[in-house]
Amino acid sequence: MKTLVLPPAKKSLVVASSILENGGLVAFPTETVYGLGADSFNVKAVAKVFKVKGRPSSNPLIVHVKDLEMASELATFDDTSRHLAKIFWPGPLTLILPLKKSSKIPDIVTANSGYIALRAPSNPIIQNLIELFGKPIVGPSANLSGKISSTSPNHVLSDFNGTIDAIIDGEDCPMGLESTILMCDPTKIRILRLGVLTEKEISEKLSDLKIESCLEGESVPSPGSKFRHYSPETPIVINSHEKGKDEILIGFGETADAEFNLSEKGDLVEAAKNLYHVLREADWKAQSTNSTRIVVSPVPNSGLGLTINDRLERAARKD
Ligand code: TXA
Ligand code: MG
Repeated sequence: MKTLVLPPAKKSLVVASSILENGGLVAFPTETVYGLGADSFNVKAVAKVFKVKGRPSSNPLIVHVKDLEMASELATFDDTSRHLAKIFWPGPLTLILPLKKSSKIPDIVTANSGYIALRAPSNPIIQNLIELFGKPIVGPSANLSGKISSTSPNHVLSDFNGTIDAIIDGEDCPMGLESTILMCDPTKIRILRLGVLTEKEISEKLSDLKIESCLEGESVPSPGSKFRHYSPETPIVINSHEKGKDEILIGFGETADAEFNLSEKGDLVEAAKNLYHVLREADWKAQSTNSTRIVVSPVPNSGLGLTINDRLERAARKD
């Protein structure tokens, strides 16, 4: 299959929409990372997403909607979730909600869990595509399962050239890390995946509710959080400045002898935007120079740094 690279023009959205209508796959930009899109009501199309990513069927897919109105046709909103959606949509927030029985979402999307993950992205290209297509679009991150997410069209092509129908070129993703995944109950908000929306930003808007992290081992986890993830081919060591022979160093802030740097000025927003790009570049360099390890300098563990360290810690896992 030849993968079309579509410029972000109105005409391209018509082409992309018709590919989706025919059960094809289209990668699209969002403000966080690139997504791999398919018609969320089409079982065969969704099955292809699992297949090309190599994703286990136990790991459900986020569904991208235009807005709260489209979301309300798919899921039952509690008051807190509705409030959060009104504040943070469109944007990097994903809500886990009970799936409405009347929705046309097939079981394969939700891994038969009875819950659906919904997000209204703010990038105008994907917003306009959803509007034109007229239906919600599944959108897991556009990377091979367990590997590094994609924040530019080249990353997507390196993983899926020849296996998907098209990609819409929306240049580099401005945020560079995935959305924050939340699940609400009457007394608290649970963070199932750290993301670009920080706990501080959420608590500033909802000071009366407790926010807790439930990242693993809970009854309704975000299944994707269980796995080794975001991983280069080359073994990676984090929280270290010590580069040995045949090793590649990724710095943060002023770092002597670093081949790559997440942010020379030590800025967490810049580091978030650069993280996946730098990990992919360092991995390519390591593979082509037979380097044995990638070493990553410590990143401060607060605010966005918590999310960056979460991704680095998973990338460094052995299993
Ligand atoms: O920023 C993002 O969220 C990007 C862009 C493309 O929107 N998407 C993304 O999708 O990160 P993905 O598939 O890489 O991560 C989705 C996470 C996985 O950990 C998955 O287990 C969880 O969301 N998830 C999806 N549906 C779920 C559900 N019904 N219940 C619980 N967790 C769910
Ligand atoms: Mg992902």
